[in-house]
Amino acid sequence: MSARPLPQDTDNAPMAKEKTLFICSDCGGSSPKWLGRCPQCSAWNTLVETAADTGSGKNRFQALARSQPVATLADIEASDFERTPTGLEELDRVLGGGIVEGGVVLIGGDPGIGKSTLLLQAVDALSRQLKVLYVTGEESGAQVAMRSRRLGLAGTQVRVLAEIGLEKILATIEAEAPTFCVIDSIQTLYSEQLSSAPGSVAQVRECAAQLTRTAKGSGCAMVLVGHVTKEGALAGPRVLEHIVDTVLYFEGDTHSSFRLVRAIKNRFGAVNEIGVFAMTDKGLKGVSNPSAIFLSTHGEPVPGSCVLVTLEGSRPLLVELQALVDGGGPSPRRLSVGLERDRLAMLLAVLHRHAGVATNDQDVFINAVGGVRISEPAADLAVLLAIQSSLRGKPLPRGFIAFGEVGLAGEVRPAPRGQERLKEAAKLGFSVAVVPTANAPKKPIEGLTVHAVDRIEDAIAVIRGL
Ligand code: TYD
Ligand code: MG
Repeated sequence: MSARPLPQDTDNAPMAKEKTLFICSDCGGSSPKWLGRCPQCSAWNTLVETAADTGSGKNRFQALARSQPVATLADIEASDFERTPTGLEELDRVLGGGIVEGGVVLIGGDPGIGKSTLLLQAVDALSRQLKVLYVTGEESGAQVAMRSRRLGLAGTQVRVLAEIGLEKILATIEAEAPTFCVIDSIQTLYSEQLSSAPGSVAQVRECAAQLTRTAKGSGCAMVLVGHVTKEGALAGPRVLEHIVDTVLYFEGDTHSSFRLVRAIKNRFGAVNEIGVFAMTDKGLKGVSNPSAIFLSTHGEPVPGSCVLVTLEGSRPLLVELQALVDGGGPSPRRLSVGLERDRLAMLLAVLHRHAGVATNDQDVFINAVGGVRISEPAADLAVLLAIQSSLRGKPLPRGFIAFGEVGLAGEVRPAPRGQERLKEAAKLGFSVAVVPTANAPKKPIEGLTVHAVDRIEDAIAVIRGL
């Protein structure tokens, strides 16, 4: 087994052996040493090192524990969480209003996307009303200072600790007693309790669990910065997402200046909001009216481009979808950037079966402009119209938009809050729309011609006639 992570461990490190246990991430079974295969469920490569409970385990504690009073739900007073705004409006929007006492936020994203920048700005803004601590494991204090000068935060009162030892950090948090603490990043920390390297699943999980415990115990709100693996998941797999209260992801193309922060889990608020920022030479600036930032500017309409009106949280966003359909080899490729690839394959099958448009000998590539990730099914119709446009080599008309979900039977289903989407498009000067019948406006919208369709073949027919 070449993947064995700890070659030296079991033979000559008896101390580590006593303190740690290997737990199967599939079945929860345990083993005192690392094995390639779980002895309980026989799954391969699932044993992960964790800190072992001292003593003879649960039963001894159970025997000593007394039963606790249980309350009736109706009698428990439901108090809303008190939130402290960070001072960055777009960040507060995704957080559901601000930081919550004892709340733990995990913020993930590609390297260089702006996590440290955003958090330094937030920490600085919060330092005016709260006691804050910025723990950096990636940069030295001098580097953080340089960044803060660049951000124009000279003279900031933020307390900084450059450290990667978890125990030392916990002791400092106890001594400093901050109300808000940033850990940049969780992958650089290591706990003395474990023998595995910083950044390993075991270390990341243990450090996050300990920090979360400290946050809950002391009421200090924490933000953990996490790196994203090549597969797009937060490293230290999804284990962290269960431990923390809120998970935010940074999205966007590092080559363009716009960044989205999306909540994918939030125990303290809604998860459908996004925060939009622009990276400037003075850090991240919130974009309060982002509807048109993901449109590319073509002088003349080009084939294979269709503008989608998508809804992100409370705000409609216009995003250009691009498709390229080109003669492929014996096994044509389907690639998508920013949209789901499986859904693309399904849509191509629907297009073939119900509208008679075949792409089975073609490579199909689709891309959502600006690095934005679109997960709502209302993108279906725009994806198919972009593909059809590329296949025909004919652009869609100037000022064209579309949205609507396409089902396996070829039906076009309505998207939520269609009127709002259409109004936003009209406001930005779009003039032709193909939308599901149920989304057609009752009163005409000035400047916008709306074609209502029930089926994908109707939509294709409308396009051919335009
Ligand atoms: P950073 O916050 O270090 O990214 P992360 O912590 O997510 O890895 O972002 C660094 C990038 O942002 C870097 O490429 C430079 C750019 N940047 C600006 O454009 N303007 C600025 O004011 C700052 C501080 C960084
Ligand atoms: Mg960083």
